[in-house]
Amino acid sequence: MRVWCVANQKGGVGKTTTAMSLASGLAAHGWRALMIDLDPHASLSRWIGIDEDPAPRGTFELFGDPTPSLLSLVQSAGHAKLHLLPAQPALATLERQSANRPGLGRALVTALSKNNDFDYAVLDCPPTLGVLMVAALAAADLLIVPTQTEPLALHGLSAMVRTAEMIERSRGRPLPIAIVPSMFDKRTRAAVDSLADMRMRFGERVWDEEIPVDTRLREASRQHLTPEALDPKARGASAYARLCDWAIEYDLRSTAAPATAKAS
Ligand SMILES: Nc1ncnc2c1ncn2[C@@H]1O[C@H](COP(=O)(O)OP(=O)(O)OP(=O)(O)O)[C@@H](O)[C@H]1O
Ligand SMILES: [Mg+2]
Repeated sequence: MRVWCVANQKGGVGKTTTAMSLASGLAAHGWRALMIDLDPHASLSRWIGIDEDPAPRGTFELFGDPTPSLLSLVQSAGHAKLHLLPAQPALATLERQSANRPGLGRALVTALSKNNDFDYAVLDCPPTLGVLMVAALAAADLLIVPTQTEPLALHGLSAMVRTAEMIERSRGRPLPIAIVPSMFDKRTRAAVDSLADMRMRFGERVWDEEIPVDTRLREASRQHLTPEALDPKARGASAYARLCDWAIEYDLRSTAAPATAKAS
């Protein structure tokens, strides 16, 4: 299983929208895709219509000992090949526990390694640098960083890249980074200038296109649909479909370790 981690220490940059769109793109290609909601606010879980009280079993259980099997925790997410591990508010308590439980940062490495039930896991991180993000980065084969094309966002991007480099050093395994310019509005000077700045500073780690501002992405979450199911020709959905194709290639190129089994 390939593990893609969608993260940025800055909030509201399009992480959840990117995780949803990439996972549904992978499923549309025939891959068995698992979305893992790591955000205690559970935006991704709500997107697919899971809003249960009490919260369902899901991501929190992966931080327990022993961990149940992934298949016993996942829920179907509107496509035969797409599943979700829902988030619970209790995930927030892990930050407090992490001081006394040093193994928490490696919980996802243990839970996801050697899993053959899915071809890809796509992790949606909360916008804070804590044990949840560290656990996600430790397990990631590819880090995808949606970044808004605005001047302040570049500071957040630099912080995220430094964090990734720190994790890379501590785990002793490369962590390729793919930066995705998000919510791009080509009519504004600030967006165009910030995009140029991003490309100059981060070079070929930046996707060579942009995700445009498209209100249908928000509408898709409101209607509990994948963007593609709402309107595959919409600008946002089609940009994400191209991003998915690029990310598959980028992942293979960066690691030279292809996913092994494509589902029929
Ligand atoms: N390309 C886009 N065009 C217009 N709206 C967008 C776009 N991408 C995301 N949005 C909207 O912007 C808001 C924030 O997006 P999203 O929830 O994906 O960001 P996030 O980084 O996951 O946020 P958080 O840090 O709170 O988890 C949502 O209302 C979403 O529908
Ligand atoms: Mg989010």
